[in-house]
Amino acid sequence: MPGEDPSPRARVVTLDGLSGSGKSTLARRLAAALGWTFVDSGAWYRALTFAVLEAEEDPRNADSVLSVLSQLDLAGQADGTVCLDGRALGAELRTARIDAAVSDVADHPSVRQALNQRLRSLRNSAQHPGLVADGRDAGSVIYPEASLKVFVDVSLEERARRRHQQALAIGQERAFADVLAGLRERDQRESERGAAAPRAHQGDRVLDNEKPSVEEAIRRLLDWVKSLGTQSP
Ligand code: C5P
Repeated sequence: MPGEDPSPRARVVTLDGLSGSGKSTLARRLAAALGWTFVDSGAWYRALTFAVLEAEEDPRNADSVLSVLSQLDLAGQADGTVCLDGRALGAELRTARIDAAVSDVADHPSVRQALNQRLRSLRNSAQHPGLVADGRDAGSVIYPEASLKVFVDVSLEERARRRHQQALAIGQERAFADVLAGLRERDQRESERGAAAPRAHQGDRVLDNEKPSVEEAIRRLLDWVKSLGTQSP
């Protein structure tokens, strides 16, 4: 947005994709490999949702959510952890309650705009040479000037298979069909968010993450970053 980011210092790489595409794992690993900061934009939406629920406000009411956000001290650590009033949030952001409410919070265009401003300002922190940000609209809306924009592409069936395996690994018995239906519904809802809808845009590099190991995918990403040289923004 003109005027909002007058002197950006850090370089930005964005990884966008649908739920379960593996983008957060890749973004975290890529940031660590580069010595850059990882910005987990989904965790910021989750932290806001956490605060809204703590305040017993309605996540479906944009004004209530904005009012909670305006009073929040939110900050990010280099490993992507989000801190609320100086307290690092981890497992409390990954509960079924947050899962159920976060889409309501993220559906409000006014809330997205306000949160995006906070995420954009991270670029001006002097503490890191670059940011790797993951999300749905990190490249298209949050950091449109990013040097490298990647869309992480994985089929619905493979994303559901991975989510199902992850649930089983932590002892949550869930039917595969339910996981698949949940992801399909979330995809549909997010596809209705206009400019913020997760999809590959013109100029994006598309990373097919259906089969490669994390190591192979990271190698590919590092090659793309290296090919930028040092002159790009
Ligand atoms: O990536 P994660 O599943 O943690 O994101 C939580 C939720 O935050 C998503 O379901 C989505 O609704 C929202 N989100 C978003 N835009 C982003 C990142 C996340 O709307 N850039």
